[in-house]
Amino acid sequence: MRILLTGKNGQLGRCFQDVCTSSKHELIGYGSDELDISQTGQVLSVVAEAKPDIIVNAAAYTAVDKAEDESDKAYAVNELGVKNLAQAAQRLGIPVIHVSTDYVFDGYSVEPYKPSDPTAPQGVYGASKLAGEKRLAQICTQYIVLRTAWVFSEYGNNFVKTMIRLANQRDSLSVVADQYGCPTYAGDLAQAILQLCDQYQQTGELAWGTHHYCGDLPTSWHGFARTIFAKAEQVGLIQSKPQLTAISSAQYPTPAKRPEYSVLECSSLEEIGVTPCLWHEVLSDCLNKLVKTQ
Ligand SMILES: NC(=O)c1ccc[n+]([C@@H]2O[C@H](COP(=O)([O-])OP(=O)(O)OC[C@H]3O[C@@H](n4cnc5c(N)ncnc54)[C@H](OP(=O)(O)O)[C@@H]3O)[C@@H](O)[C@H]2O)c1
Repeated sequence: MRILLTGKNGQLGRCFQDVCTSSKHELIGYGSDELDISQTGQVLSVVAEAKPDIIVNAAAYTAVDKAEDESDKAYAVNELGVKNLAQAAQRLGIPVIHVSTDYVFDGYSVEPYKPSDPTAPQGVYGASKLAGEKRLAQICTQYIVLRTAWVFSEYGNNFVKTMIRLANQRDSLSVVADQYGCPTYAGDLAQAILQLCDQYQQTGELAWGTHHYCGDLPTSWHGFARTIFAKAEQVGLIQSKPQLTAISSAQYPTPAKRPEYSVLECSSLEEIGVTPCLWHEVLSDCLNKLVKTQ
């Protein structure tokens, strides 16, 4: 099967390329310099020429705080870009697997969010991602929206790499302890998407609609940092654990408000056999990969 991948140089894009190397699928990947999804004409012509069997959209505007000042840019990629891909896919009669975010929710829930729960983004990034989800659902008959959260990997910029860098620069760190979510390894997310591609190839069908995929155990950013430091010390990525102080979101103001609780309920994908992300275990694998790149 020919898979067209957008955003091939992002965390998910790179992990998806990795998992596809051991699959039988033919992957046609594009970076933003080769395919800018916000350019309608370009998207329509590139997709028509590539003639894929399915589109995987890993491209997104992901700068949560900058989005507050760059609303136009965020919507150009996260709404118009998705609309363009949806229209191109619909012309060919092929499905789109699109990735979205836990930040479409307001965070006031006390139990994990189901895919059908009401959305209410707190910031421009979440709102632009939600607008993209809606465009996709309006245009495509066959689509999957995969909402994920707190993505980390050995690639690009993410919380794990930031914590390791800071731990090597400072003796003490303060990290927010009143926001809860589920860390997700981009490699597992990529594997989950590949499983969906396999299922589509085998059956011509998928459980179309919106699903959630994230790590198995909720934690706070503070809890996540504590786990990262313990494991990073074990593998020698940091010399010693910094003193870690739990602070509130109010003590660490950011331009974009984040949900206090964005734990996602992921049973719909588990029911169709998609392997869950055991984030504690894969964090160790990810850190070992970082050791090798040192
Ligand atoms: N990171 C997280 O914690 C997180 C959490 C929840 C959901 N998600 C979602 O998960 C997905 C993957 O995220 P990620 O962490 O892999 O993001 P990422 O590392 O920031 O990668 C995003 C990629 O999209 C590309 N891109 C940006 N604008 C584009 C455009 N106009 N046309 C084509 N490509 C464009 C970027 O290329 P350039 O670098 O060249 O701009 C980058 O390679 C996204 O849908 C994101 O919203 C992420």
